This record gives sequence, structure tokens and C-alpha cells, in this order.
Amino acid sequence: MSIAASPSSPLSLPPMGCGTWAWGNRLLWNYDPAMDGELQQVFNHCLNQGVTLFDTGDSYGTGRLNGRSETLLGRFAQVYQGPNQDRICLATKLAVYPWRWTAAAVEKAAQASAQRLQRPIDLAQMHWSTANYAPWQEDPFLTGLMNLYRQGQIRGVGLSNFGPQRLKRAHQRCQERGIPITSLQVQYSLLSTYPITHLGLKDLCDQLGIQLIAYSPLALGLLTGKYGGATSLPRGVRGLLFRQLLPAIQPLLATLAAIAASRNKTSAQVALNWCLGKGVIPIPGAKTLAQAKQNLGALGWHLDRGEMEDLDRASSRCDRQMVQNIFQSR
Ligand SMILES: NC(=O)c1ccc[n+]([C@@H]2O[C@H](COP(=O)([O-])OP(=O)(O)OC[C@H]3O[C@@H](n4cnc5c(N)ncnc54)[C@H](OP(=O)(O)O)[C@@H]3O)[C@@H](O)[C@H]2O)c1
Repeated sequence: MSIAASPSSPLSLPPMGCGTWAWGNRLLWNYDPAMDGELQQVFNHCLNQGVTLFDTGDSYGTGRLNGRSETLLGRFAQVYQGPNQDRICLATKLAVYPWRWTAAAVEKAAQASAQRLQRPIDLAQMHWSTANYAPWQEDPFLTGLMNLYRQGQIRGVGLSNFGPQRLKRAHQRCQERGIPITSLQVQYSLLSTYPITHLGLKDLCDQLGIQLIAYSPLALGLLTGKYGGATSLPRGVRGLLFRQLLPAIQPLLATLAAIAASRNKTSAQVALNWCLGKGVIPIPGAKTLAQAKQNLGALGWHLDRGEMEDLDRASSRCDRQMVQNIFQSR
């Protein structure tokens, strides 16, 4: 499954995308196949409204549902009838499993993803950096992605969970073959500012012409403000994490809620708009049509400078932040 020719213009991403980690994940997200009809509506609504970027991964889906997120996206894209069909951008992340240590293995993995997506991958991202335990694996993996790009099988090469040192190195490798890195994806939200404040990734990405994507921009749902209020905590790991974080983040949630009330918006919309104001592309996950509709309401307006500063201050005063991804490199 290939695109006829090598892409002539760099892949440009929309201001916001939709994350699909939950689509097929029973363990963390309580996915049930009965949700599929509504997930199709989420897909349709996003695309219809111009949110054309969908982020997935070949490791998404738990147990025998592995690959489910890609499969659902493939199915939804096939049956979708409406505007922006020609602008669909399916961004998958290829897991850096230990057995994927040759370029050929990466190319094979991409082909399997394209089969599930029933179309060529638009943006193929290296899911994580192996710098912390097998640094030698990054080069062949990147070579695989670059080969796919050269063969015209993908429109863009992306990275995820890379820090500045490894990013510069990867950028150098790509430059040697004249291939652009389209995007870098890191955990970024009011509860995970580390990639920009400590690692300086926004400035570096701007310098290198790389678009910065913010994953978990709602801190797994915490920044919507619903947990700790009327909504009971989710079961499992997320509930445990939220229980630890909630006492420390009350002032931040209160600031979000106050700005939301004064703007006639929701806390989720303010949290996402803050990301947009930082010049990053948030990809909030949505499990229901109502959530997707609400999240799209983050577009089309701007927090003012004072509001951004209030949020920055409230964020920096939180005693606790989200746990960083163990694969995030320096
Ligand atoms: N590169 C990586 O390593 C990596 C890691 C993590 C995620 N990602 C990507 O980033 C995407 C987004 O991150 P995420 O899904 O982890 O977390 P998120 O976007 O911070 O939170 C999404 C969750 O929050 C809740 N939610 C969303 N919108 C809401 C709304 N308007 N009102 C109330 N609740 C709402 C939903 O869960 P509930 O309804 O259950 O509360 C939803 O599944 C993922 O789907 C994935 O594509 C990438």
C-alpha cells in the first residue's frame, strides 16, 4: 500500500488534532466495543469541523484488541462522507519494540499499520526514544522511517518522547538524507510543562522547523475539572494517580474554572486554548461525541496575556505534576 510519488511539499498539520489511545484500551480507559458507533461520530464530527489530524499507535488496544485504534480509524475513514475527506491525516506511532532493530522491521511494521488503516500512513512517528536503555536502536529505526518517506509510503516522519539532545542527533541524521522531521510529540499540559520549561523543546523545534504536538493536554482528563467534583474517580491506575494529584492541584483547577466562567467556556476548553497559545498542537483524546464537541470549542478564540500568565503561575505553583513518560529522553 503506497502513495504514488514522494511528497513534494512538507506535511503541514492543523492547529489541533484528536487522540485515539482510548479506542481499544480496556485497561486504562475502559473501552467497550459498544462505544464504536459513538467513536465513529467523534471521527465524523472532528473531520467535518476541520480537525483532520488523528493520532494513533500500533501498540494501542489492549490484549487481543491490539491494533484496534488503527483498525477503527481505518474503518471510520472508509465510510466517512463529508467535507475534508481529502485532508484526512492519520498519524500513527510505531512502537520501538526490542525486536524492531533493523530498518526492514520498521518498514514491515508500517505496512501492517497501513493495512489496518486501509490507506497509507500520513505521519509515521517513532513512539519513543530508546536513549535511556538501547541508544543504538534509534538509528536503524529512523533509517526505516526515512526509507518509507523516500519510497513515498508516508508523507511525514515524526518523533515522540525525544529530548533536545536526541532530537538534534535525529535531525542531523535526517538532514544528511535531505528529509524533514515533521513533528515531535511530547506530554505537554498545564500539569506537564517540563518539555518546554526544562527541556526547551519549543524553541528548539521552532529553530529546526519541527511542529510540536502536545499529548495528554488534559492531563488524562484531570484538567477538565470533572474529577474531584461530581464525577467519581475512574477505576484502576488513572484513579490512583488522580487521588494523589487532586489535593495538590486544587488552586490550578480553581484558576481554570474561574477563567472558564468569565469566558463562558469550560475548563477543558481553557486548558486546550492555553496549549494553542503556547504554539503547540494539542491532540486531546475523546471518548464521546459531547467531549469532542466541547474540545473543538477550544478553537477560534484566544486567552489574553493576563489569563495566560495567571495559568502559568497557577501551573508553576502546583506541588505535583504529571508523571513523565519513562521513555522521555534528554
Ligand atoms: N506519544 C505518546 O507517548 C503518547 C502518550 C499518551 C497519549 N498520546 C496521544 O495523545 C492523545 C491525548 O492524550 P490522552 O488521551 O492520554 O489524554 P487527554 O487528552 O489529556 O485526556 C483524554 C481523556 O479526558 C477525558 N475527556 C476528554 N475531553 C473531555 C471533555 N471535554 N470533558 C470531560 N472529559 C473529557 C476523556 O476520558 P474520560 O471520559 O474517561 O475521563 C478522554 O479520554 C492520546 O489519545 C494519544 O493519541 C501519546
